[in-house]
Amino acid sequence: MASFSRLVVVLAALLSFANAISIASTKYYNISNDVEGSVHLNGLAFQQNALTTFGDYQYVAFYKTASGYGKHYVNLGRRRIAPSLGDWQYFSFTDYEQTTLDEHNTISLGISGDGKIHLSFDHHDVPLNYRASTSGVAKTIPSEWSMKSFGGTVQHSLPGSSGPWTPLTYPRFERLANGDLLMEFRIGQSGAGDSYIHRYSSTSGLWSNVGKYLQGQDNNAYINGFTSQNNKLYVSWTVRETPDASTNHDFYFALSEDDGRTWKATSGSTVAKPITPSTAGIKVYTIPQKSEIMNQEAQTADEKGRFHGLMRDKTSGTARFYHYLRTASGTFSKTAINAPGQSTPPYLQYRGKLAAKGDSLVAILPDAPKNTVNLFGATAGGNYQDWKLLATITNMAGEPQVDEERLAQSNTLSIFVRQGGPFGERKVQVWDFELQL
Ligand SMILES: *[C@@H]1O[C@H](CO)[C@@H](O)[C@H](O)[C@H]1NC(C)=O
Repeated sequence: MASFSRLVVVLAALLSFANAISIASTKYYNISNDVEGSVHLNGLAFQQNALTTFGDYQYVAFYKTASGYGKHYVNLGRRRIAPSLGDWQYFSFTDYEQTTLDEHNTISLGISGDGKIHLSFDHHDVPLNYRASTSGVAKTIPSEWSMKSFGGTVQHSLPGSSGPWTPLTYPRFERLANGDLLMEFRIGQSGAGDSYIHRYSSTSGLWSNVGKYLQGQDNNAYINGFTSQNNKLYVSWTVRETPDASTNHDFYFALSEDDGRTWKATSGSTVAKPITPSTAGIKVYTIPQKSEIMNQEAQTADEKGRFHGLMRDKTSGTARFYHYLRTASGTFSKTAINAPGQSTPPYLQYRGKLAAKGDSLVAILPDAPKNTVNLFGATAGGNYQDWKLLATITNMAGEPQVDEERLAQSNTLSIFVRQGGPFGERKVQVWDFELQL
């Protein structure tokens, strides 16, 4: 018996050695002063994305004070990241002033395969706001970086496609393998809304309506993300009954093998569109209301066909972050993330993100009581339970964003964060972590 327990100790030590993920170097960049006021407009979990890469350039979208309190411009930054690192360049869209002090009204940024940059911003149950570059500025890189590359005024529909375009919230962009770009958003309200997909063709330069894919039943889906990987489109969500966040319940999942036209339950069976909360096979985990689920936490998918979700709940009596894993063969598991040193997440406090590379997974978890963001790594070899602390960023007050494209093409995990502290000192930043895998 004694030698058996010694063997267990040795095996456990070997397993912890198997988690080879570490960070070789770290660098950060101040992007801008954050905007004035207590409202967060930079760094919210449902932005998709604030930070992204296309080819040799990285792009960041953020709000910056235009003049005085509560007046902001959409800003777009770029820098070369390969073959060598260039300086950040920024410009403001001075023809549109953002004035609604509301945390929903973030910016999302997407880049289609033709190199056009698409932006959507400033929504909470209002008509679509959209603008795109007039040419493929991410492909044929102009020396001048200015709003001249973007067409006229803000548009309230997607050219070529059909609505509804209002009341709209939470625009997200996701590029497909062939270069086309999907756009996803909610039409309706918290507690009563539907989710729609549109598709931009990189060949015709026009949008088309893929259709409504999630439909509320006097409630609404809050998606954890909208993820395309290896020609599969993954979505997972919780459902909200009323505007009150305590009515979030359950974990749902669906995948599409035709870019959102038709959908399957986790079992592989095709389901009718639009999917509703009562569609058979769609609910994967039952989690009652009042379990302190935070809607729109995070998800990702890795190159090996695994889906990873992040959602917290208090079903064990203590609020915990959970890793939802769907293996390539379609088996789901839900495991509490034992992240060493991480505080219990306070109700409704900052949401995290996941980033996957090969057999490694990084959970980027805000620790609100300590005003930090912690990066924890786990590996397939450790059944994604070998979480270890990789890095801590101090003086944080917001929700991190991940540059998934950059991580896909390199070992650099680049994240966008918002600092804590007073206006004038508080910055939005990009942090680069060189991962060793
Ligand atoms: C970021 O801004 C802070 C405050 O102004 C400054 O102390 C720091 O040196 C800056 N860091 C970099 C890398 O520019």
